[in-house]
Amino acid sequence: MVKVTVAGAAGGIGQPLSLLLKLNPNVTELALFDIVNAKGVAADLSHINTPAVVKGYQPKDKSDKSAITEALTGTDLVIIPAGVPRKPGMTRADLFNINASIIRDLVANIGRVAPNAAILIISNPVNATVPIAAEVLKKLGVFNPKKLFGVTTLDSVRAETFLGDLTNTDPTKLKGKISVIGGHSGDTIVPLIHYDTGVGLLKDSEYGDFVHRVQFGGDEVVKAKNGAGSATLSMAYAGYRFAEYVISTVTGGATPAGRVPDSSYIYLPGIPGGKEFSEKYLDGVDFFSVPVVISQGEIKSFINPFEQLTVTDQEKKLVEVALKGLKGSITQGTEFVTGSKL
Ligand code: NAD
Ligand code: LMR
Repeated sequence: MVKVTVAGAAGGIGQPLSLLLKLNPNVTELALFDIVNAKGVAADLSHINTPAVVKGYQPKDKSDKSAITEALTGTDLVIIPAGVPRKPGMTRADLFNINASIIRDLVANIGRVAPNAAILIISNPVNATVPIAAEVLKKLGVFNPKKLFGVTTLDSVRAETFLGDLTNTDPTKLKGKISVIGGHSGDTIVPLIHYDTGVGLLKDSEYGDFVHRVQFGGDEVVKAKNGAGSATLSMAYAGYRFAEYVISTVTGGATPAGRVPDSSYIYLPGIPGGKEFSEKYLDGVDFFSVPVVISQGEIKSFINPFEQLTVTDQEKKLVEVALKGLKGSITQGTEFVTGSKL
């Protein structure tokens, strides 16, 4: 029995993500929350002949808390793609002014109604929205760092696709052969090509293009959509890939053996060995995406890329750049909550 709640379920990501969740045989209840059209999306998906019971929850007005409360009651997993996407010319950081309060308020509701749920945050800027969520949960006294996940899987999906293109390899065979660590925005994104990919090394010129494309892949989609938003379908696929991993462990599954698990942007000091890792390798930066080993819906451990994977000197330099960008976003997110009334 697994109940999953999607907050922002009627949006560009929310709809295809909810469709994929409806197809998951382990999901028994799917609660779709949005401030618009949640009931319509739920009615539509409810006609699909799979076991998950789908219900839509939409508040009558801004003061109505009953819809979100019902959507969250008894939930095991909350996935949040609520908020505005980028338009051409914007960075993800430009979304902070609108999305910060959306995440703060949604996570405060989760902390009050479903403090034991795993929370997967998709809304941008992820580098700051995850610290916002952590701070809200801390303020409410219910923060479990093992259950808070920033969803960075799209960076891994892109890395696998682009490396597959460059090396003429079936990209599905590259799952677990590349880890993407750091954050989720421009040069905070650091792809690590493990040197056991079996596809050989990239030439220097190809390597530079590969890293740039993974770091700025989101811009390609924003530009091509020309004002109609950012990645939605590939994001739904990627978000589902990560959610499926978490859900599989809630129902007793284990992290697949023989490959590096997907990364997630997490609060390291809350994970065994995370504080030491952050101090030794990350100049004390607390939030960072690393491959995570999940069991029973929560992080059991993480893979230390510097000790358990191959990190080249070039990649170490990318990490140094990433850390500079992350520091500001983490502080911005944390301070936003310090100055907020919950
Ligand atoms: P969208 O505008 O199509 O959908 C967002 C949905 O959120 C809308 O249906 C809207 O009604 C809803 N919403 C707004 N405020 C809400 C609230 N308070 N409670 C519940 N629902 C609310 O946007 P999208 O394309 O689906 O993108 C959503 C977010 O995901 C953006 O911030 C985008 O930047 C981000 N994103 C992240 C990644 C990633 O890799 N993590 C990838 C792509 C997009
Ligand atoms: C992405 O990587 O596609 C998302 O973060 C959306 C964006 O704004 O680029």
